[in-house]
Amino acid sequence: MAPLLELRNISKYFSGFCANHEINLTVETGQVYGLLGENGAGKSTLMNILYGLSQPDTGSIYIQGQKVKITSPKKAIRHGIGMVHQHFMLIPALTVVENIILAMDEGSRILMNKKAVADRILALSDKYKLKVDPYAKVSELTVGQQQRVEIVKAIYKDCRLLILDEPTAVLTPQEIEELCQMIRQFKAEEKSVIFITHKLREVMEVSDRIGVLRSGEKVAEVLPGETTKEELAALMVGKSVQFAVEKKAVIPGKRVLEVSDLSVAHKDGHMAVDHLSLSVREGEIYGIIGVDGNGQSELVSAIAALTKRHSGSIRINGREMSGASPKDVLDCGVSHIPEDRQHMGIAIRRSLMDNLILYSYKNADLKNRKLLSWPKVKGFTNQLVEKYNIKTPDLEIAIGYLSGGNQQKAVVARELEKNPSLLLAVHPTRGVDIGAVEFIHKQIVAARNRGCAVLLVSTEMDEVLSLSDRIGVIYEGQILGEMDQRDADIQEIGMLMAGSKKAG
Ligand SMILES: Nc1ncnc2c1ncn2[C@@H]1O[C@H](COP(=O)(O)OP(=O)(O)OP(=O)(O)O)[C@@H](O)[C@H]1O
Ligand SMILES: [Mg+2]
Repeated sequence: MAPLLELRNISKYFSGFCANHEINLTVETGQVYGLLGENGAGKSTLMNILYGLSQPDTGSIYIQGQKVKITSPKKAIRHGIGMVHQHFMLIPALTVVENIILAMDEGSRILMNKKAVADRILALSDKYKLKVDPYAKVSELTVGQQQRVEIVKAIYKDCRLLILDEPTAVLTPQEIEELCQMIRQFKAEEKSVIFITHKLREVMEVSDRIGVLRSGEKVAEVLPGETTKEELAALMVGKSVQFAVEKKAVIPGKRVLEVSDLSVAHKDGHMAVDHLSLSVREGEIYGIIGVDGNGQSELVSAIAALTKRHSGSIRINGREMSGASPKDVLDCGVSHIPEDRQHMGIAIRRSLMDNLILYSYKNADLKNRKLLSWPKVKGFTNQLVEKYNIKTPDLEIAIGYLSGGNQQKAVVARELEKNPSLLLAVHPTRGVDIGAVEFIHKQIVAARNRGCAVLLVSTEMDEVLSLSDRIGVIYEGQILGEMDQRDADIQEIGMLMAGSKKAG
C-alpha cells in the first residue's frame, strides 16, 4: 500500500535564502512522525507547504500514491489534512464556537447552526479528552485552553493527517500528557500525525519515527528506540548540549520587588490574585510554580502596570508603584519577557532592528549628540543577533517573518541587554530549541549574578527547579508555600500545586 504522505525533493527559497532544501519525507497510515530541528531549521515552512499556505519552488507531494497540488488550506482540508499552527489563530473577542464557525469555508458557514457546532465540539472534546467550553470567550481562556481549542478546530473536519506545529510550548506537564494521550488515540484510529516540538522526552515517547532538519535539510531519520536525548540534541544543533544549569552561590542584596497583600481581579470579576505577598532581592531568582491559570498572568501584568490592581501594594526599588504607567515601570529598570510574545513582545510588522532597539532610543551609546546614529544602531543590533544566535537573513526583515523561536530570542535579547534591575521572565524559553534554552538560561543566571532580581514564571517544572534560588507555589492567586531551591521537594510542590497546604 502506498504511504499516506510522501514529500519528494521539496525546496523553498525566500528571496535567495534557502528555507527547505530537497526534503524527502514519508508518513505511513497510523504513524506518528516527530519532526525536530533547531529554530529556523525550516519545520514550519515545510508544514505550511503541506497545508497549502505556501507553494514549494521544486518538488511534489503525494497522498496515497497520487500526486497532488495543495494550493490552499481548503484543498489541504479536502485531502484530509488538519493543522494546528505554531501561533494561535483565534480571535479573542469571539467565543470558541464562533471561532470554529469562522474557520469553515463560506458555503458550510451559512448552513451552520451554532448549537449543532457546539454539540460536535463537545462530542470531540469528550472523545479525545480535550476539555473545551464551546461558549467560553477565547480572551478568557488560559493558553493551555486556547491550545485545546486550536486542536479541536483542526480535527473538527475529520482529518486523517494532523499536523501539530509545536503544540506543547505553552502547556503544563499535565496538559502535555493529555495531548500525548490524544495522539495515541488518533494513531489507534489509523490516523497519522506530524508532531513538531523542542521537547525531546515527549517526542521520543509518542513518535514512531523521528526526522531531524538542520538549516533546511533533512540530516537524519531515527527510530525512538534506537536513539537518546543526547544524540537527538546533537543532531539538531550540531553540538552537544548541557542539560543542567550551572549556578554559583550569590548572597542576595536589597529587596528590589516587594509585593504585599496584592489582589487583582480577573476579567470575570473573581480575584485572580488574592492577597498575595512575595519579594525578590538583588541577585536572586524567584521562581513561581503552579498550574497555569492560578493568577500567574495577572500577577505579572499588575507588576508591569498593564492591569490595574484591586488592592495591595507593589514596590520596585523602594518606590510604591500605585498609579504608575507601564512606561514608568520600564523607567524603573524593569524588563519584561511577556507571556504572549506575538501580541505584547514584538511589533510584528516592524523590522528586527526596530524591535531590538525598541527601548534603547535613550541609550547614549547609540547616539551622536542627540540623534540615534545609524551605524551605531546597526552595530549594536548586529551584536545582539550574533550573541543570541538569531537566525535572520538581514536586520531589515519584518520580525514576523522570523521563525517562532527566533522571535522569542529577539525578545529575550532586547530585554536582557537593557541590563535591568528587575526582570519579569514569563516562559522565557517558550518555543526555542534546546541549544537556545541552554543559552537563555545562562544569560538569566548571568543577569542574576550581576545583581538583577528575577521573577520567573514558567510551566516547565524543570526550568523553575533548576534556575530558581527560591520557589513559590501559586494556587488560586495565593502563594501557598515558599522554599529554598535546595529544600525543594517535588512531592510537596505537587501537593501545594493541587491546593493542599500540608504534604503527606
Ligand atoms: N515569508 C518569509 N520570508 C522570508 N523568510 C522566511 C519567511 N518564512 C520563513 N522564513 C525564513 O525561513 C527560515 C525557516 O523558518 P521556519 O519558520 O520554517 O523555522 P522553524 O524550523 O519552524 O523554526 P522554529 O523552531 O523557531 O519555529 C527562517 O530563517 C525564516 O526566517
Ligand atoms: Mg516553526
